Amino acid sequence: MSATLAPQTSAAATAPAQTFDIRPFVGPLGAEVIGLDLSRPVNTDDFRRIHQAHLDHHVLVFRDQASLTPDQHVAFSGRFGPLQIHVLNTFALPGHPEVLIVSNILENGKPIGLGDAGVFWHSDLSYKEKPSLGSLLHAHELPSEGGDTLFANQHLAWDTLSAELKKTIAPLKAEHHYLARYAELQARSPWRPNLSPEQVAQVKPVAQPVVRTHPETGRKGLFVSEHFTTRILGVPEDESRALLAELFAHSVQPQFQYRHQWQPHDLVFWDNRSVLHLAAGTPDHLRRKLYRVTIEGDVAY
Ligand code: OGA
Ligand code: MN
Repeated sequence: MSATLAPQTSAAATAPAQTFDIRPFVGPLGAEVIGLDLSRPVNTDDFRRIHQAHLDHHVLVFRDQASLTPDQHVAFSGRFGPLQIHVLNTFALPGHPEVLIVSNILENGKPIGLGDAGVFWHSDLSYKEKPSLGSLLHAHELPSEGGDTLFANQHLAWDTLSAELKKTIAPLKAEHHYLARYAELQARSPWRPNLSPEQVAQVKPVAQPVVRTHPETGRKGLFVSEHFTTRILGVPEDESRALLAELFAHSVQPQFQYRHQWQPHDLVFWDNRSVLHLAAGTPDHLRRKLYRVTIEGDVAY
């Protein structure tokens, strides 16, 4: 059941152990990792501990990653699987196609990154045939207020559904589409360029299970979101709409949530197979800049 991780380099095998703590948050998900420096080699045993903690807690907050370079960010992410390149390649960090700049900053009137990432609840790249395993978001510049990110545990969302609703939705599939709300976002922000035909071809609608099984832990979780899920397949449109509205509302209740208040140089690694996330919003006049690397996961089942 365990996913195949990228082969360890000999440097990783022989690197000295680092001394660090993993402290679970009080709440439905999340843990902070204190004392691990991701800019130094992470040896095989330390990596295994991180991997297990990620499966147990779904969101890991690595504190104080001030020295982590984009190359090191990419290299650490790549130990969990192949990396995904975001369709909005205009917002890639120059020289680093795997790094997406998430930022509300305008330079000479032009956006330097994607400023409205995550304004609706979603799981990254759920609109791809191989949706994301997880994303690693590293804080480079933070606003003095706002800018929080919310996470909701989708195993708990599934576990707390009525037996009847579980039975109804277990066999269903739903369509996910990157462009589902693109025009709506385009109308309200400068961050959504018109896509080329090649870009549109990269984000064709896909069918995903409404309830997915986590490929590493075997736990079930809800896998629909207000951002990308357009309809439940094989049921009448009005039923599909009603069911999705019910699932969206259920899935992000406060008791399933962890609210991340960013500290300088945090790197947050979440599991897109078991959580949804949302950008709570940043006041327009305050600057925010983070770098995101996204790991490809398995076909969902
Ligand atoms: C993302 C995302 C939320 C945020 O980078 O995938 O949804 O708070 N970001 O920036
Ligand atoms: Mn996201």
